[in-house]
Amino acid sequence: MMNAADPATSLAGVALEHPLINAAGTAKSRDDVARLARSPVAAVTVGSITLQPRDGNGGEVYATRPGHAVNALGMPNRGADFYRDELPRMAELTRAAGKPLIVSVAGFSPEEYGALAHLAADAGADLVELNLGCPNVWDDGHQHRIASFDPELVAASVAAAAGASVPIGAKLSPLADPIQLAEVAAALAASAARFVVACNTFPNGLALGTDGRPALDVGFGGVSGAAMKPIALGQVAQLRAALPPEVDLVGCGGVRHGDDIRDLGHAGAAAVGLATAYWDAGEDPGVFGNLLAGWLG
Ligand SMILES: Cc1cc2nc3c(=O)[nH]c(=O)nc-3n(C[C@H](O)[C@H](O)[C@H](O)COP(=O)(O)O)c2cc1C
Repeated sequence: MMNAADPATSLAGVALEHPLINAAGTAKSRDDVARLARSPVAAVTVGSITLQPRDGNGGEVYATRPGHAVNALGMPNRGADFYRDELPRMAELTRAAGKPLIVSVAGFSPEEYGALAHLAADAGADLVELNLGCPNVWDDGHQHRIASFDPELVAASVAAAAGASVPIGAKLSPLADPIQLAEVAAALAASAARFVVACNTFPNGLALGTDGRPALDVGFGGVSGAAMKPIALGQVAQLRAALPPEVDLVGCGGVRHGDDIRDLGHAGAAAVGLATAYWDAGEDPGVFGNLLAGWLG
């Protein structure tokens, strides 16, 4: 249970000075990791990383609106070969700052999740997060399946990663159907997942320009920011009730103020991640200090 009077917490047995971490999508390069290692976050999350390098989607990929943002970055990253060499250096940077390194990986099959999880663990990750919830991957006009919505795919992806030498976690899309949420939770409870991140963006939101056309070039995008807070709280509370107590939860969605940390803790989160508040602040790490100060009082 998170407690502002005694902020130390842990994630799958890895000690954290306090619960606040950057969510995946906010660090891809060594410079990004160095900036976060110097910031007040308790752990640094890098990725999501895919096997092949990805340019991401073209044109407009991020639209910020009052109370929310919509993005379709499409997971730009330099691919497994680059990160095999780079992760040990990133791990050195975060360890020198006393912070664990969380590596977020995204496969297009269970085998790819397995290969990436092993690569990340062998290259120095303290925790590996399987991004099972990215909505923004399109090829030839077709959207990729979101693994989170298929309990069998969730189970197979975690199983493929399970032999890695560090704890494995699963990051989910928001599961609107309570029956499906229970099925996915049952699959995770029977799996090797030691932590669950709830949640990724809400898929296929739409931001429009004043001309009525989609603001993002690919059209739809994942919804993040303040509008996600009640959704994240609901996901964390439902998953807390459905998962064994030894599976830790990271609450993620709409964290902007100290009260958001407190509320996600009350819902059952052991740690809290944020992306949009940092992104909208132009990646100013001061965001994390302000949030922590607000929570600690
Ligand atoms: C610009 C941007 C890029 C993101 N990229 C990733 C990613 O690569 N992998 C991932 O698991 N989540 C990614 N996310 C989702 C966030 O990590 C987070 O789950 C979601 O945005 C909700 O938190 P927030 O409201 O604090 O942004 C991204 C979010 C944003 C806004």
